[in-house]
This record gives sequence, structure tokens and C-alpha cells, in this order.
Amino acid sequence: MKVTLSVIKADVGGLAGHSRVHPDLKNEARLVLENARDEGKIIDFYVTAVGDDLQLIITHNKGEGSPEIHKMAWDAFIKATEVAKKLKLYGAGQDLLKDSFSGNLKGMGPGVAEMEFEERKSEPVAIFMMDKTEPGAFNLPIYKIFADPFNTAGLVIDPNMHHGFDFEIWDVIGKKAVTLHSPDEIYDILALIGSKGRYVIKRVYPGKENKHLPHEPVAVVSTDKLQEIAGKYVGKDDPVAIVRAQAGLPAMGEVLEPFAYPHLVSGWMRGSHNGPIMPVSEKDATPSRFDGPPRVIGLGFQLSEGRLVGPADLLGDVAFDNARRLALEITDYIRRMGPFEPHRLPDEEMEYTTLNEVRNKLSNRFRDL
Ligand code: F6R
Ligand code: MG
Ligand code: MG
Repeated sequence: MKVTLSVIKADVGGLAGHSRVHPDLKNEARLVLENARDEGKIIDFYVTAVGDDLQLIITHNKGEGSPEIHKMAWDAFIKATEVAKKLKLYGAGQDLLKDSFSGNLKGMGPGVAEMEFEERKSEPVAIFMMDKTEPGAFNLPIYKIFADPFNTAGLVIDPNMHHGFDFEIWDVIGKKAVTLHSPDEIYDILALIGSKGRYVIKRVYPGKENKHLPHEPVAVVSTDKLQEIAGKYVGKDDPVAIVRAQAGLPAMGEVLEPFAYPHLVSGWMRGSHNGPIMPVSEKDATPSRFDGPPRVIGLGFQLSEGRLVGPADLLGDVAFDNARRLALEITDYIRRMGPFEPHRLPDEEMEYTTLNEVRNKLSNRFRDL
């Protein structure tokens, strides 16, 4: 059976600044999706939040980019926004950039990661959701999961994974895409995705020589560039990703392994700082210190004819305690740099800046050298 898994998210209001989502907003979204499930329009759903982002996880059989599913998500965000406005939550409706829905969520503000695939005999999936960062924050973990044999033992010792994987990489500034194969093109892959503000991994597929799995996506990342869409600052993208696991794909433990290392990502306070991404449980997905540090949660589900069995709160496990500790240590360390790079982002990547104003103000006091 072909199933579509859609993860659709938007920041429609924060409780006490940009920290978390009020439970009433989640309830409002649940009502919309419950209705849709009762009417047989979707198979199943799960509503959660990470930081100030409301997350809708939906299964259905309408394929990717379905106007019906996107409209439903839009309606859920609109309903949640109405409540957010009543409660005067912070930034109520901030990610809904258009006044009315027009066929597809593309360019409308919410972030979307979705894929259609043949549900296997058993289908474990992990859904990762980040707050206070950008889509390129997924480059390092997705690369490690599908291309790094020091992370994923199966790349070396599982005959079904030995052929490697294809990486679809988007140049979000040049608006182009390229597909490169791992392992033979890993130097080229890394040359691109190390520039994580520009080149982002969009999808991963089994390599063409893989006879074990159909050529369907095994991972997908949301890449909606809010800044470009709105033409002004409206918050970092706060990306989500879906990764399928096991039986010829990286094992769930291999999928989680990269998150034991809290790598540096850009975002955090005012979308203008580098900081560690801290893996946390669903209940600890509540940025606080300096509006962060940036967080990631990982929810595991088993699909059963499209039904979402779970979730398992994967990154909440004690095995990630050291990563949390390290992330907090890095936080203490890097915060002491205050307004200096590389804690503060370089000029062209900052979401907030006064640099032009300062330059203009001082223009007649600058002397030639
Ligand atoms: C980061 C983020 C927050 C805000 C910050 C200032 O993505 O959303 O760090 O940028 O709280 O917000 P304003 O300017 O709305 O007071
Ligand atoms: Mg926000
Ligand atoms: Mg957010």
C-alpha cells in the first residue's frame, strides 16, 4: 500500500515570547485533523510542538503536495491563530504570510516535509523537528546517517546498504538541484553541504544499484526559506525531517547516532547566532536561555496501513544525556563571546542587523586610510 507521510509546521504564536506553544493551539489543530480523520480524508495524525512551532504529522494516500491536505493544514493553523490572537500570544499568526489559501502551502509560510512510498512489511520512521535554526542544520546528521561508515555500521556490513545512497542537494540561493551518489562522490557532496546556509540536503534515495528497495525517498527535509518568501525577517525556518529506518536502511540507532553530538547550527537568538543543537525530549522542547539553545526532538513511529503507532520519544532517552550536558557546556562557553563572531553570525547571515544604519550614521566621520 502506498502511503504519504506529511509533516507540516508553522509558528502561529508563542507562549511567553518564542519559547513554546500553548496547549489550546494544539487542541485546536487536533480538532481539525480529528474531523478529517472521521470523514476518511486522512488516515491518522499526531500533533506536537517544538519551541514555538506547531507540528502536524499526517498520514494519508493523496500523494505529495496534495491541495486537500495542504488546505487542511492551513485551516488548522488558521484556527490555532484565532486562539493565539484571543490569548494575545506572541507573534500570533506570524508564519501565515498570505491572507487566503491558494492550492499549495509553497511560499505561504509553513514548512513542509513529505514523502510518498510503499509501506514495507514493517515501516519504522523517525521524525525530527528543530527550533531556532535553519534547514542546513540537518546536513550534518543526514550525511552521517546515509554516508558515514563511522556513524552507520550497516554501510560497511549490511549487503543491502553497501551500494550507498543518492543525495538530492538544493542550492536554495541559486534555485537549482543536483543529485550526487555516495560513496563515490562524497568529496563533492561535502564540498557543497558544508556551506549549510546555501546547499541543503532535500532528499535521500537508495542508490540505483540497490535491488532491495524501490527508488523512493528514504529521507526528506523541509527547505522553505521564510526569509526569501517574505522578503523580510519573520523567523528562521525551524526545519523538520522524516527518515525511514531498518531492513536495508540505517537502523534506528544509526539514525539517532549523529544527535549524540550537538553540532553548531545558526539561528538561536534573533536568528543571528551560532550555537549547539541540543537533543531533547518532547516535553523539554522549550527554548529558554538566550531564546535557546536550539533544540531537536525525534519521534519514532511504526506505520501500520498508514496508522501512526507511537510515538517513541527517541531523543528523550538517557543515552543523550551527555549530548545535552555538552550542549550546555558549549552554551556557557560561546555565550561569553557576546556580539563577536563566530558566536554572532557574519553580517550577511544575520536576521537582525543595525550595521547599515551605523555605517550611514558614521559615514562622514570615516576617514580615508
Ligand atoms: C529566533 C527568534 C527569537 C526572536 C527574539 C526577538 O528565531 O524567534 O530569538 O528573534 O526573541 O524577537 P522580537 O524582535 O519579536 O522581540
Ligand atoms: Mg519564532
Ligand atoms: Mg520557531
